[in-house]
Amino acid sequence: MIIALNNKSNLTKEEFIEYQKQLSSIQALSSKIILCPTSTYLALYNLNNIELGAQNVSKDEIGAHTGEIAATQLASLNVKYCIVGHSERRQELKESSEDTNKKIKNLFSKNITPILCVGETKEEKELGKTTSLIKEQLMIAIKDLSEDEKNNIVIAYEPIWSIGTGLIPTIKDIEEVLSLIKEILPNAKCLYGGSANDQNIDYLKTSNLIDGYLLGGLSLKPEKLQIFIEKAEN
Ligand code: 13P
Repeated sequence: MIIALNNKSNLTKEEFIEYQKQLSSIQALSSKIILCPTSTYLALYNLNNIELGAQNVSKDEIGAHTGEIAATQLASLNVKYCIVGHSERRQELKESSEDTNKKIKNLFSKNITPILCVGETKEEKELGKTTSLIKEQLMIAIKDLSEDEKNNIVIAYEPIWSIGTGLIPTIKDIEEVLSLIKEILPNAKCLYGGSANDQNIDYLKTSNLIDGYLLGGLSLKPEKLQIFIEKAEN
């Protein structure tokens, strides 16, 4: 199982150092835990029990792109995974599926595994557009990838209405989306993200299609995270 921690824009430098100390005692039996800190803290990473991921990458290569971080630079920091197309970036920064396609190619060229986020808004769900929208997000993002790349990409289904709200979809709804993703990408690992926590994990883990989780709020609470991991692995 993969459990990826998306810290988003949280923690000051001092808080991150303390947080990382707490994470150093996190134990997992069989799961791969991936920490995606705010980019300013990537160079402070010093954990043996957890791998390093980033929250974003430039769609351009190294060069004159003020404020961006290129895949080459992430690789030089030992980043092994990178979130791409998070809904907060799609909504706040107008990141398009075409952008995610460029980012995914840049990452693979530096041996960094992309974690592509897909998901629908509440309105899109109510209009019955979930699967067609996710198919569109996915098809554009994986355009021209090699078979090997398609086998190794990680997809995170994150319904936008579920992020930070305490609401989660039914297993039936999650499985409808994950089945679609697995039809298109039979070997890709599929994560669920959106208000996953140490309480609802008992319900979420009843699905055989979920290969792991992308955690936002819970990533910042190491004690609850440990409980989550133990329940998810059981
Ligand atoms: P929450 O777990 O806080 O709902 O965030 C999910 C998320 O957006 C992870 O990328």
